[in-house]
Amino acid sequence: MRTIIEPFRIKVVEPIRMTTREERRGLIAEAGFNPFRLKAEHVLIDLLTDSGTGAMSTAQWAGVMEGDESYAGARSFFQFEAAVRDVFGHRHVIPTHQGRASERLLCAAAVNDGDVVPGNTHFDTTRANIEAVRAEARDLKLPEAADPENEHPFKGNIDVESLAATIQQVGRDRVPFVLITVTNNSGGGQPVSMSNLRAARQVCDRWGIPLILDCARFAENAYFIKLREPGFGAKAPIEIAREMFSYSDGAVMSMKKDAFGNIGGGITVNSDEWAERIRTHLILTEGFPTYGGLAGRDLSALAVGIREILDEDYLRYRIASTAYVGSHLNAAGVPLLKPYGGHAIFLDGRRFCRHLRDEQLPGWSLSVALYEQVGVRACEIGNVMFGRPRADGGGWDWPTLDLVRLAIPRRVYTQSHMDYVVEGIIELFGQRESIQGLRFVHRPAVLPHFTATFAPAEP
Ligand SMILES: Cc1ncc(COP(=O)(O)O)c(C=O)c1O
Repeated sequence: MRTIIEPFRIKVVEPIRMTTREERRGLIAEAGFNPFRLKAEHVLIDLLTDSGTGAMSTAQWAGVMEGDESYAGARSFFQFEAAVRDVFGHRHVIPTHQGRASERLLCAAAVNDGDVVPGNTHFDTTRANIEAVRAEARDLKLPEAADPENEHPFKGNIDVESLAATIQQVGRDRVPFVLITVTNNSGGGQPVSMSNLRAARQVCDRWGIPLILDCARFAENAYFIKLREPGFGAKAPIEIAREMFSYSDGAVMSMKKDAFGNIGGGITVNSDEWAERIRTHLILTEGFPTYGGLAGRDLSALAVGIREILDEDYLRYRIASTAYVGSHLNAAGVPLLKPYGGHAIFLDGRRFCRHLRDEQLPGWSLSVALYEQVGVRACEIGNVMFGRPRADGGGWDWPTLDLVRLAIPRRVYTQSHMDYVVEGIIELFGQRESIQGLRFVHRPAVLPHFTATFAPAEP
């Protein structure tokens, strides 16, 4: 059969509400032209993030009912620990309430003022947590990653030569670890190949530096390896995932993605010394080490989710359904990042809105226009998220790509929802010259996209 179907049926439904274009114009203006500030009930199809927005399975809900809420030593923790260790293989498994808590704890335990943490592309909260301890988060992308049309099958890879050169230049003592994000969210949901992980491991071994994975979407990465890397076609996703983790010394994970959690995260490490420091901080800010800021029921649901995500039928559907959106938009000439990512399709804001200059925030303006046009909420990953005013006050440094991410929640929307999204974007593309540019009104210094406000820019 050619058609790849959703490998589940729907048991519980949640109504979504239509709004008119006029209503949406008013609502987004009231929200300071920031889609993060909209009420979710005013959004028809929410592609802001795939984080924590997935639908749990019947088995996960059963786990919720069976959750053990004991303060210490709960059964739910041991289920979680066993499920995570079975895939990741690291000695210590520490739950946290979400990914950024894991990042903060790891940075507090291992990163010092003046250190440099090299990575493929650090996610925004990871970068912010590294910078919060006065270290530098250095992205070492492949040159191909700068070209949205380049079809490199593993565009998320770290540039291994730059990694070696960076360690040489900075000095081993100022590199606490190397962090590779799988799949590479900020780089477009692009996978990292097994051979790249192996090569990065060899570089790390040369200097005795730990390699850590930011593995929010490890299962999607494993499936891309199966599809695209010679020698992996016959392997099960779980075997591939285990091999990926075998090259690492630890992991930080937002379990709101590839563990089907609505909340949750974790850190795993082999080092007893780091584990001790992480648990000490965990007790101060998250909770006792057997619950880490989560309810027992969350831990039980995650233990089920981390196994379900590796189901091959699910992963085949997941990757194919994301590519479905990309290929229909591409056929209509909509400028996109290629190849298509695992969890999201990324529109190229600068090429979509050629009439807007970087200062007029093309990607952000596109995300606002998309909401006004059809009620779809998307997330800019570009000039607002990563643009920085120059220290000398002489203008801005803009990121290489100004993207708008259509992140697809797991097991939530059907193909007809996606057809609606595709139709809306194609319609907007036909009227792209009418998209109004925006400017900052208020720009917080840290993670500005979440709370910044905007107003229409001068033409
Ligand atoms: C790659 C990556 N790392 C870390 C995080 C942060 O996770 P959380 O939102 O659970 O704090 C995210 C969230 O989107 C992510 O995509």
